[in-house]
Amino acid sequence: MNKDEILYWLDPDRDAAPLFARADKVRRERVGDGVHLRGLIEFSNICRRRCYYCGIRSGNARVRRYRLSAEEIMGCARTAVRLGYGTVVMQSGEDPGWGPAALIPLVEKIKTETDLAVTLSVGEHSRGDYRALRAAGADRFLLRFETSDRRLFALLRPDSDYDARFRRLAWLREAGFQVGSGVMTGLPGQTRESLADDILIFRDLALDMVGVGPFIPGPDTPLADAEPGTLDLALRVTALARVVTGDAHIPATTAMGSIDPQGRQKALRCGANVLMPNISPTEHRPDYSLYPGKICTGERPEECSACVDAMLTGLGRSRAEGHGHSLKGER
Ligand code: 5AD
Ligand code: FES
Repeated sequence: MNKDEILYWLDPDRDAAPLFARADKVRRERVGDGVHLRGLIEFSNICRRRCYYCGIRSGNARVRRYRLSAEEIMGCARTAVRLGYGTVVMQSGEDPGWGPAALIPLVEKIKTETDLAVTLSVGEHSRGDYRALRAAGADRFLLRFETSDRRLFALLRPDSDYDARFRRLAWLREAGFQVGSGVMTGLPGQTRESLADDILIFRDLALDMVGVGPFIPGPDTPLADAEPGTLDLALRVTALARVVTGDAHIPATTAMGSIDPQGRQKALRCGANVLMPNISPTEHRPDYSLYPGKICTGERPEECSACVDAMLTGLGRSRAEGHGHSLKGER
């Protein structure tokens, strides 16, 4: 698919049904009907950055900050095993208190004591730290580039650098991780043109995983008065990501489920093949407030597990077997 074709499908006035049907077919042929479940551990909401879109940006005094201990995180990992998940995704703000030096022995412990695949989603670090985290046994790393629009990136991420972020995606690959990235859709000032570029970049980077979610403005952020993204646009980008990447692992994201009660179900029908049920301790979930209206903040891990199973049954899909590693083979 070339850029003009992508732009054709990003036009909100165009009926998306043929695109969604095509993406669903590619999904079925390339990755099958199995849906991989990744247990999400939101282990710290402390962050040194001030991204304008993000509810846990540093300086937001409304956030009650927390940091799980190694023992609490091990407890979450054991919950993931008990619920039959093949992967834990360890996500946090860029918390200096859980830097690479602290994460390394924890990753080693999870990899020694369980059979889980470990995905890290912990932001920007040095090339050496990425290598060390990989050597500790982490399998995958998620680092969304958020937008390929340089101007918008600089505006929304005042203390991050566009080129440095893309350089890190190359370092992650070089370190031997399965690499995931992605974007928010419907950001203020985001153009269809730049979204088309985002999608082409998913392919150019040969991503193993691609995550897409609608932007949802938060009350205590500089973007409080911005318009939210639509589910329709997030679904179009998801479907296009499926068509251009073929066999990437693509989640039906929490943000999609938060702007529409059927958001994740719809994503699973237009390209997505992954769900990330929350396994964080319920008491801290409301504080991992990337955006308002986030689903699952009152549920326990067992409830999210039962919920996603019911969702899969309703869609005629089932849990996928195994760890859900990249289908792109050994690199
Ligand atoms: N709306 C939607 N998604 C958001 N994220 C951060 N803030 C928001 C928001 N306000 C997404 C970013 C980040 C991921 C963990 O959450 O894309 O990479
Ligand atoms: Fe958490 Fe549905 S996945 S309640």
